[in-house]
Order: sequence, then C-alpha cells, then structure tokens
Amino acid sequence: MSAYAQLLAAAIKDLEDRKALGERFVVVAPDTLSALTAPVSRGRQSEVAAPTAQSRAPVSAPRPAPASVPSARATSLPVPAAPVHAPAPAAIAPVRPPATIVAPADKPAAFAELRTRALACVKCPHLVTSRKSVVFGVGNPDAQLMFVGEAPGADEDRQGEPFVGAAGQLLTKVIVAMGLTRPSVYIANVLKCRPDTPGQSFGNRKPRADEMATCLPYLLEQIQLVKPSVIVALGGTAVEGLFGQTEVRITRLRGSWMNFHGTPVMPTFHPSYVLRAEDGPDKGRATKRQVWEDMLQVMERLEMPISEKQRGFFK
Ligand code: URA
Repeated sequence: MSAYAQLLAAAIKDLEDRKALGERFVVVAPDTLSALTAPVSRGRQSEVAAPTAQSRAPVSAPRPAPASVPSARATSLPVPAAPVHAPAPAAIAPVRPPATIVAPADKPAAFAELRTRALACVKCPHLVTSRKSVVFGVGNPDAQLMFVGEAPGADEDRQGEPFVGAAGQLLTKVIVAMGLTRPSVYIANVLKCRPDTPGQSFGNRKPRADEMATCLPYLLEQIQLVKPSVIVALGGTAVEGLFGQTEVRITRLRGSWMNFHGTPVMPTFHPSYVLRAEDGPDKGRATKRQVWEDMLQVMERLEMPISEKQRGFFK
C-alpha cells in the first residue's frame, strides 16, 4: 500500500472511530476542505483503493445537507422562500448525521451524553484555561422555542447557565411577556465558553469566527435533540455563528425569517443592545418595540394566543 493510501485509510478509520463515539461533525480548515473536494487527478486516483460504501459514509458534501437537523415540526411549518441563508460554509465539514431520529425515551440519555462531552471539551485550549465553567444550555428539552445567544459573559461563566446576567434578566422578561416561562423554552449559546480577555480584568469580547465554528457542532446536536419549531437568534453574532457568516448587520436582518437546516430562525437584537438603547432619548422604546414585533411574529408562527394588550406593548 502506498503512503498516500495508508494515510487515507488511517483518516477514514479516525473518522469512523469518531462517528462511533457520537461525533457528528469534524472541524476542517478551509484550505484542507478545498483540497479534499478538489477533483482527484487520474494518477492519484489509481493509487487509492476504491472506498467501500461504508468507508465513504462518514464524510458528506462540504455543505451540511438540509436534512442534517431533521425537525418534524419545522417541516410542517412552511419556511418562506426568501430570504434563505446558506448554512455554515466550508469551515465545518459535516459527518453524515445519524439516520435515526432519537426516540423520546432516549432523549434524556442523549442529552446527558452530549452535555458530558461538551463539559469535557478542550478544543479551544485558550478558553479551557480561562473558563470557570462550560455553559451548556438550559431549559425544556422538548421546547418549541429555542433562544440562541452568542457566548457566556462573566455571570454565566460563574454560574454555568446562559443568560443569567443583566441581559439574561431582560430576556426572561421578554419570555414572560410572550406568555411563556424560562423553563418552558430552551436557551443556549453558539459558544459554550466565555471568550477570554487576556490582560483585562473586566469586559467581554466578541467570540471569534473560528471559536464559534469549533463549538457549533454542540449547538447543532442540541437543536437536533430539542427539535424546536422556531429558533430566535439573539444578535448579529449569534447569526454569524449559526450561519457561518461574517459582519452580519442585525439592523437589516432582524424581523425577517431565516432558515437553519429546515428550522425557521427569527433574528432579533441581542438583549445587551436593548439595554444600551435604554440610555437613548426614548429610553429604548423603539428598539424594544422592534424586538417585540419580532417576538409577535414568533408567537404567530407558533400559533400562540396573542392578546390585544400584548399586541400593543411598547407602541
Ligand atoms: N450574552 C449571550 O449572548 N449569552 C449569554 O449567555 C449571556 C449574555
């Protein structure tokens, strides 16, 4: 066997071992991915033994297939044709998702296994050093509605739960205004560790694209297990992390449905942005109304009852 074929066999075995351990995604540098997807020259092809159907199975096309996050409820909700945003680009190469949807009885075990894996994650060594906790996610594993933020802040890092600081308290108020409770929804972040701030004793930094791409597979698995009917993406960074985009302008995107592997996503302002808007001349009323209009769309999509009083909030 040539050195190339040996290397290929070892790579396939590594992928199959990871898949057997439950990993559903591997992080691949964009350059590596383009090399992998480039047409193989005849000379090189002849060196490689034809892969068996099984050895081909773990690695699929460079973009996640829409079915990779199956959602029975989401498919029953038609997603508007536009704007439809491409899923995460080349930085993440999906391993084919499990063919079976986790049966409800297995869900707690699947969640526990995923949580254990995330809590032991050391993929970002710089964050492992600085974090106090891995902030996995919280809420109802059968929630119809899931909120996705960007990354834990200092309070979340300390307490191990997303959205417990000032922004979190505002998010909880929004959830209650919708007629829901915090435990009835699911809340998670794209990045599970607090972004480090070396040499700084306070403040937060925006998660980097590479950190979010590394962590995204955990969120994908959470979405795959919860199967929410609707996801609310809180802020431009959450949209960037979910869709692998850069420099998202949330002021333009908010209020229009997006589509994440078949699940409708409503992008809206991050609660921290709303808190900052409270310093403005209108005390943040216009921004709050915009967020509220986005939430009214979410409630309509979930076919939740909406009172006249609720329709009029922040008008
Ligand atoms: N901001 C986020 O995006 N997530 C949190 O958990 C807290 C603040």
